[in-house]
Amino acid sequence: MSYFRPNIEKMQGYVPGIQPRAPGVIKLNTNETPYPPSERVLKAVRDALDPTLRLYPDPMSTPVREAAATVFGVTPEMILVGNGSDDLLTIAVRSFVGEGELAVVPNPSYGLYTTLLEIQNARITYVEYPDDFSMPAGIAQPRAKLTFLSTPNNPTGTSLDPDDVADAAEAISGVLVVDEAYADFADTNCLELPGRLDNVIVLRTLSKSYSLAGARVGLAIADEELIAGMTKVKDSYNLDRLGMAAGAAALLDGEHMRANVERIRADRDWLSARMAELGFEVIPSQANFVMVRCTAVPAGTIYEELVQRNILVRYWDKPRLSDCLRITIGTRDELNALVAAVEAILRGE
Ligand SMILES: Cc1ncc(COP(=O)(O)O)c(C=O)c1O
Repeated sequence: MSYFRPNIEKMQGYVPGIQPRAPGVIKLNTNETPYPPSERVLKAVRDALDPTLRLYPDPMSTPVREAAATVFGVTPEMILVGNGSDDLLTIAVRSFVGEGELAVVPNPSYGLYTTLLEIQNARITYVEYPDDFSMPAGIAQPRAKLTFLSTPNNPTGTSLDPDDVADAAEAISGVLVVDEAYADFADTNCLELPGRLDNVIVLRTLSKSYSLAGARVGLAIADEELIAGMTKVKDSYNLDRLGMAAGAAALLDGEHMRANVERIRADRDWLSARMAELGFEVIPSQANFVMVRCTAVPAGTIYEELVQRNILVRYWDKPRLSDCLRITIGTRDELNALVAAVEAILRGE
C-alpha cells in the first residue's frame, strides 16, 4: 500500500541535469552562464548579509519587481517575482489547471511542464513540433486551461515567430505561458504581448543571461489581474533576502548581462560551425546552447564517452531526442576541449 496519491505514485518526477560536486568537470549540461555575475551583484549580496536576516523578506520582492518593471517597461503590478521561473511555472499550473482539466504541452520541450501537470493530475495533450520546430499545428485546443510554449525552446534552441505566438494566444481560450528563459540570447521576443493580450504570461529568468542560477530569481510579466490572482497562489515569502538583493542588483546592471550575452552568441556561432564541420546536423539556435543531431556515432555513446572525459552535456533517451545532444555554450576554452574530445571519439580513440 502506498501513502501517495495515485498520480504521484505513478509519475517519474523531474530529473535535473547532473550538478557534480567534484572539481575539474567541464559542465555544459544545464545552460548556466560560464561567466560570473556582476561585481555589483556580489556587493549587493554581501551588503544584505546583516542582522536583518532574522526578519522575513518582502513578500512581493518589491526591489526586484520595481527593477524588472523598469527593465521591461511595464508597471510593477504586471510583474510577479518567483523563486526561479520554475516557481512561477508551479504557480501557473496551480492557478489555472484543476484536477482532470486539460493542458497543452508541445513536444519536445522543457520536461518540467509535464512533471508539474502530473502532480496536479491534469489531463495533458502533447502537440508535436514540425521538423523545423516552428509553431506546432494544433497548439490551440478549445478546452485547454493552460498552454505552454518555450521560445527559444529548450532543448532545441529554436525560437518561434512572435506574430505566430500572438496568433496562437488569440486562438487559445485559456492562459498561454510563453517561457522566455533564453530570450536575452535571441533576436526576437514576445514582451509586448502581455500589454495587449490578457491571457499571456511571459516568463523570464535571471538564471541564464544574468549568471544567477544559484540565486533563484524568475519573473512573470502579465496582465495586472492575472498577476493579482497568481499572487494568491504563491508561497508568502518565495524569495529570500539574499536572492532579492542579487536579483535587483543584476537587473540594474544590464550592461554586464549584455556583454556576456554577446560573447555567448559569438561562441554559439563558433561551436555551431565546428560541429557542422564534424558532420553533425546543427539545429539553428537562438539560446545559450546548441542541439546537434549525431549521425556517425550514436548520441548516447558520445554522451557516455564525454562523461568518461569529465565533460557533461545533456542527453535524453526519448523519442525525437535520442539521436541528439544539447550542449551549453561554455567558455571558448571549454568548447575547444569539447570539440577536441568529440573529434577523438569520432576517430574511435
Ligand atoms: C525553458 C526553461 N524554463 C524555465 C527554466 C527554469 O529556470 P529557473 O532557473 O528560472 O527556474 C529552465 C531551466 O533550465 C528552462 O530551460
